[in-house]
Amino acid sequence: MVFPEYRPRRLRRTEALRSMIRETQLSASQLVYPLFVMPGKNKREEISSMPGVFRLSIDQLAAEAKDCLKLGVNSVILFGLPEKKDGVGSGAHAKDGIIQRAIRELKNKAPKLTVITDVCLCEYTDHGHCGCLIGNAVDNDATLEILAKIALSHAQAGADMVAPSDMMDGRVAEIRAALDENNFDMVPIMSYAVKYASAFYGPFRDAADCAPQFGDRRSYQMDPANSREAMREATLDVDEGADILMVKPAVSYLDIISKLRDEFDLPIAAYHVSGEYAMIKAAAANGWIDGDRVMAETLLSIRRAGADIIITYFAKDMARMLQDRK
Ligand code: PBG
Repeated sequence: MVFPEYRPRRLRRTEALRSMIRETQLSASQLVYPLFVMPGKNKREEISSMPGVFRLSIDQLAAEAKDCLKLGVNSVILFGLPEKKDGVGSGAHAKDGIIQRAIRELKNKAPKLTVITDVCLCEYTDHGHCGCLIGNAVDNDATLEILAKIALSHAQAGADMVAPSDMMDGRVAEIRAALDENNFDMVPIMSYAVKYASAFYGPFRDAADCAPQFGDRRSYQMDPANSREAMREATLDVDEGADILMVKPAVSYLDIISKLRDEFDLPIAAYHVSGEYAMIKAAAANGWIDGDRVMAETLLSIRRAGADIIITYFAKDMARMLQDRK
């Protein structure tokens, strides 16, 4: 049937009809809100390149958690700014490290909140790379043991899920083994399986103070030109025991999200990263776009591409908009 017998516009006539045939839904429970935790008391510092996003001291976390839960955003992912950094990132697995304390605080004050932790070294090393070094190169195999220690320390502090973001080869298997040997076989791994060496992480590196002090991350994060390699990375992580596969960044990589969705039956997560957030905020602040509508359309596009879970600095704003629509 073609025009004039068939008219696609028939089903676009009213909002009721449009919502009846809407193929993709966004809901607050699919959103994960990133939190930056900093030392000190009573601290709430806005990140200049990420308006509306704050670094919080531990005493501020309970209120933030309640805010999220009230909006139906049931999960957060934690990033830490340690008091001290060193060559091997020992602060990352310290029993009383910033993240370990933050997890205990959140699980105490807001037990219903799902607490996910980013497992990486870059915020904890003085050189800012995601692993320990031999000379100027990141030592993959020596880093694995440290990553497993970090993940285990997070689980011991009460984390509900760990998310390795370092891009070392073999880390998922190493972390799975460490968790299982210590009776944390119920703690899932959300692997940053397909993480590109992206300029969109700029604002995050200011926020978490983790820019590499020399060189860049291209010897471990993926080349933005590659798509087949993404399938290989994801396959390896599935074989090593990942429970959720993540693609990062999101919007410039919707094709990758879609391919992973077609190829794998695990839940797919997408990280809508700091630069993606900052661009929308900046254009909206200039009055060049309608920030709320662009936010909603962007997050919807990530869902439509195939992501089940979206990690986004917009989580609370989006959830608020969804509540207001009801
Ligand atoms: C740590 C990490 C980064 C991000 C998440 N985990 C930075 C990086 O890889 O350089 C970026 C998140 C964002 O930009 O919002 N490795």
